[in-house]
Amino acid sequence: MSPLPCWAPPATIGWTDGLIAAVAALYDEPDGKENAVSKRIVFTGGSGKAGRHVIPYLVERGHKVLNVDLVPLPLDGVNTLNADLTQSGEVFNALSMHFDFGGLDTGAGPAPVDAVVHFAAVPRILLRPDNTTFQANVVSTYNVIEAAVKLGIRKVIIASSETTYGVCFAEGDKDYHSFPLDEDYDVDPMDSYGLSKVVNEKTARAFAMRSGADIYALRIGNVVEPHEYANFPGFLADPLSRKRNAWSYIDARDLGQIVHLCVEKDGLGFSVFNAVNDEITANEPTAEFLAKWAPNTPQRRPLEGFEAPMSNRRIREVLGFREEHNWRKYVSKAPAL
Ligand SMILES: NC(=O)c1ccc[n+]([C@@H]2O[C@H](COP(=O)([O-])OP(=O)(O)OC[C@H]3O[C@@H](n4cnc5c(N)ncnc54)[C@H](O)[C@@H]3O)[C@@H](O)[C@H]2O)c1
Repeated sequence: MSPLPCWAPPATIGWTDGLIAAVAALYDEPDGKENAVSKRIVFTGGSGKAGRHVIPYLVERGHKVLNVDLVPLPLDGVNTLNADLTQSGEVFNALSMHFDFGGLDTGAGPAPVDAVVHFAAVPRILLRPDNTTFQANVVSTYNVIEAAVKLGIRKVIIASSETTYGVCFAEGDKDYHSFPLDEDYDVDPMDSYGLSKVVNEKTARAFAMRSGADIYALRIGNVVEPHEYANFPGFLADPLSRKRNAWSYIDARDLGQIVHLCVEKDGLGFSVFNAVNDEITANEPTAEFLAKWAPNTPQRRPLEGFEAPMSNRRIREVLGFREEHNWRKYVSKAPAL
């Protein structure tokens, strides 16, 4: 009999193996809009660059989302609750409220939350003073995870970052230790933002250990919105311009798929995932390209074809990620392979 991911049919209704396989295929679709299990998700920072693509992806797959942000997200069917996540009291409230007026209809009070996706942050250095960036990101993440766990929410997904790999916001020209950059790398940022993300991963690990909840940290690569593929010819012409991003990226819509897969995948406890697309942003195979442009950095294993230097093997193997938005689809000057 075919394995079913979420449920098993009652033995009495005469399901055939073929029927079961057909239904299971709907559930197995990694980014299938047919997903029938609607979850209630609180999404923080959903009005920002990444969230405004990820929230629609989740809504299209049947999930009910409350956005918690300091500024609104103009999206039908998604209420934005204005709350400051650096304030613990506001966070506890935000995670235990009605999502919208529809919640009043049951008369039973706010329904439970299935998952929290925490994207709100000061998203890089040089926007706020360094200490404010560190403090805001560390405190808001602590508040969100603590409130979620203490309110009994069993799934939290937080936005970590490529900057944990230490080169993105480094002083001067720093080399990576080795390629590929994978989740076991000894992360060592020297800047306040990257450091805040390392601390957030430790916070996530501590609460997962304490509570048994699933808390997944996504080391998100440079987020690319559809209109930003116009920048890629410039990247290709100046290879060193992308060293700080490890010549890797994540399409904002594919990030939606990754978050959706994390919402669906239970039982991993604390887990770190690189969240990037499959391929290097270059026209040369990765091993040769890196030998030329990162000559001081050893390659720990044979790099396959055009694989991204920041490896996404784990999201493909553990979550079933299948990219839909390879940059070559959108960059007309990229020579055919
Ligand atoms: N954009 C990237 O390339 C990139 C790369 C790696 C990781 N990340 C991470 O992904 C997440 C999303 O990034 P983004 O580019 O969408 O950032 P963004 O700045 O566009 O969006 C962040 C949102 O968080 C909200 N916010 C900030 N502080 C808040 C607070 N105290 N309370 C409530 N809301 C608050 C902001 O209003 C904003 O809408 C962030 O955690 C960021 O650090 C982004």
